[in-house]
Amino acid sequence: MSVLLDVKNLRVDLPTENGMLHAVRGIDFQVKRGEMLCLVGESGCGKSMTSLALMGLLPRKAVGTADRMTFDGVELLGLPEKKLNQLRGQRMSMIFQEPMTSLNPSYTLGNQLCEAMLEKPGVTRAEARDRAIYLLHRTGISNAEDRLRQYPHQLSGGLRQRVMIAMALMCGPDLIIADEPTTALDVTIQAQILRMIRELQREFGTAVVFITHDLGVVSRIADRVAVMYAGQVVETADVGQLFASPRHPYTRGLLDCIPVRGKTLPGSKLQAIPGVVPSLVGNIGGCVFRNRCSLADATCEQDPPMLNTAGGDKTHHVRCHKVTAADARQLSEVAA
Ligand SMILES: Nc1ncnc2c1ncn2[C@@H]1O[C@H](COP(=O)(O)OP(=O)(O)OP(=O)(O)O)[C@@H](O)[C@H]1O
Ligand SMILES: [Mg+2]
Repeated sequence: MSVLLDVKNLRVDLPTENGMLHAVRGIDFQVKRGEMLCLVGESGCGKSMTSLALMGLLPRKAVGTADRMTFDGVELLGLPEKKLNQLRGQRMSMIFQEPMTSLNPSYTLGNQLCEAMLEKPGVTRAEARDRAIYLLHRTGISNAEDRLRQYPHQLSGGLRQRVMIAMALMCGPDLIIADEPTTALDVTIQAQILRMIRELQREFGTAVVFITHDLGVVSRIADRVAVMYAGQVVETADVGQLFASPRHPYTRGLLDCIPVRGKTLPGSKLQAIPGVVPSLVGNIGGCVFRNRCSLADATCEQDPPMLNTAGGDKTHHVRCHKVTAADARQLSEVAA
């Protein structure tokens, strides 16, 4: 599979009253065609800022920079607004946590669903309408034809989110960025919508960057996972590998915080990671996780670790001095 999205050293800075807040601190990741990448991490770790930077939708005062941020070989940073708009409408789309942020209350669903597709040269109203009906049907909405005449407020939250997913798929995009699209929904509807997103993603071969703070969600839908902490990616791996052998102390801590069927005894206490996330204002010397890490030593205080391959596995990367040192020790023992 070829690389669709390639991000290298993405940074997002926001001026605040207390100084410069570095929300995203040099993150690297790639998304291949047709792949589902989950970006997972605690509240405030920079997930939304990353997704907004990708879509060119950062708040006005935020500054996004990167060594590289390419979509299908096209550099997104500095792309003229007109070109970016075209890409956003036709080839990349975004689904937000709260559908009302992107649905316009005063237009019918039909109008909103068809809008971007009608901008494609040669597309007729009838074709756009047929696709809208098809996608509403595929996202599990009954009476699709009647729905086209309705307004967003006439739908429940779950239905609105289904409409947003249909809208994101209208132009057959290569990439969808979904920022916590099911977090505001109740658990049953959340499960239905996750399943549907996964099915549609496979059927249409769409790559998805799916943002969540929930590792349970990740285990159900991801192909690959990037774990974020304090504005950095601290570990990336295929989903099976991440859950079977997490390497970064933060990822391990997160996994200890979720119940596992067959392993966690009923009534037993789940762990919580002690300590708090560091302030993102100003620089953080050394490793961003060191103040919560039981393995941290003087090296972790001084030098920021790089994202290195873990255990010789080219698809698994970890940003941790301790893991890198343990791997090196193991390699030298094998060689001896
Ligand atoms: N408009 C803003 N002005 C200043 N700081 C902001 C602004 N928006 C976000 N931040 C800060 O940037 C950091 C990253 O925020 P971001 O919204 O990307 O986090 P997140 O991982 O999406 O969190 P959540 O899970 O709560 O959605 C946070 O520390 C947040 O407080
Ligand atoms: Mg967010």
